[in-house]
Amino acid sequence: MNRTQSIITKYFKNSDLNVGEYIALGGFEALKSVFKNGKDYVISELKESGLRGRGGAGYPTWKKWDIGRNRAADEKYIICNADEGEPGTFKDRELLEKVPYQIIEGMIISGYVFGAKLGFIYIREEYAHLQIKFNEAIKMVKEHGFLGQNILDTGFDFTIKVFSGAGAYVCGENSSLVESMEGRAGRPRLKPPRIGEKGYLGKPTLVNNVETLAAVPAILSYGGKEYGRFGTEKSKGTKLISLCGNVKNPGTYEVPFGITLREIIYDIGGGIEEDKELKFLQLGGASGALMPKQLIDTKYDYEDLAGKGFQVGSGAIVVADETNSIIDFLKTVQDFFFHESCGKCTPCREGKRQLSKILTRISEGNATVDDLKNVEKIAKTMKYASFCGLGQTAPSAILSAIKYFSSELCNTVEGICPYY
Ligand SMILES: Cc1cc2nc3c(=O)[nH]c(=O)nc-3n(C[C@H](O)[C@H](O)[C@H](O)COP(=O)(O)O)c2cc1C
Ligand code: SF4
Repeated sequence: MNRTQSIITKYFKNSDLNVGEYIALGGFEALKSVFKNGKDYVISELKESGLRGRGGAGYPTWKKWDIGRNRAADEKYIICNADEGEPGTFKDRELLEKVPYQIIEGMIISGYVFGAKLGFIYIREEYAHLQIKFNEAIKMVKEHGFLGQNILDTGFDFTIKVFSGAGAYVCGENSSLVESMEGRAGRPRLKPPRIGEKGYLGKPTLVNNVETLAAVPAILSYGGKEYGRFGTEKSKGTKLISLCGNVKNPGTYEVPFGITLREIIYDIGGGIEEDKELKFLQLGGASGALMPKQLIDTKYDYEDLAGKGFQVGSGAIVVADETNSIIDFLKTVQDFFFHESCGKCTPCREGKRQLSKILTRISEGNATVDDLKNVEKIAKTMKYASFCGLGQTAPSAILSAIKYFSSELCNTVEGICPYY
């Protein structure tokens, strides 16, 4: 099996393509094929491809689009989610930098299938330079007749606007994102109704991740069935990963699902910096669990990872060598979530405050056995009782550390450790 693939990333080698070059290389051919073959063709190709949303939840894209397109409404919207707030994740930034036209093509196709005339791309504030670049790309695409009124004489009108996030991690969650676009504080909504039914301005709204949308024209050009041959039976195709931390060759790579983590770290990533020992990986960003080195022969796909308590999530793979302290790592992760909690629900708001305090005591050598007991209790309460995915996943690193690195935590207290 080839370690990396170039389907979604096929234009990465042609750095900084302008719109004319993109078209000359086959750009917008997928859109033309959609206008020619119709919406059913898109749904069936996406179904064959097995594409699942790349924003973290992994919901089948064809299903989301199929349900959405059949919802009648006077107005509908599509949103490309470029909030990319998960620490350790940078693959959407790479797509925005290298292939804005491919993302735009994916957005036009999604707008056409969903029945929207207006689409937004919600780009995180920290990517301010990419907001400028994306606005220029939109202008160029419009000049070439793929955006605006009556696109390619099909009668389809479509406009794209750039919306700037304001730097909150929770705004990557689709209902908080819509709340913030409507001018309110970015806090998640109670669901149902889901955003697909009642989203931006109360209208049906289709939210997809940058990678998902960039994958659509690439898959239509490559062929859904052919794309679906990569990967495993249930996790079909390829995934962009953000490989970083103590690895020799950090970067964004497109890998087929089913590759092992060992192959990712040692063959693609070149191994651990300064040839040190691997200690653990954090999968799926700061909200992901810590995988100890003895599990790195696990296959990288939705099912194999979930079976062992891990997740693909955003595609981040943070590599930590033997010199990293679990306590310091947990503290850094928890401080991030303490800062990012929106404050709406008690388990997350208060849980994070308490976890941060206790982890500080642990890192300063002032913790007690009761502190360790409380860490586990609070982490479990947050996991099961928080209102949204942020609070539910924030304690993943802690709970996995209790499972795999208990001795390091136990060594910080006097007395009988509750984790043994
Ligand atoms: C706390 C939180 C943060 C999220 N951040 C992002 C993000 O930065 N980008 C993203 O695409 N999805 C993010 N999501 C997932 C979105 O809610 C949503 O599922 C996704 O954008 C749907 O697109 P997809 O079907 O293409 O994956 C986040 C979810 C949660 C709970
Ligand atoms: S879990 Fe609760 S406090 Fe935390 S971000 Fe979600 S809604 Fe806000």
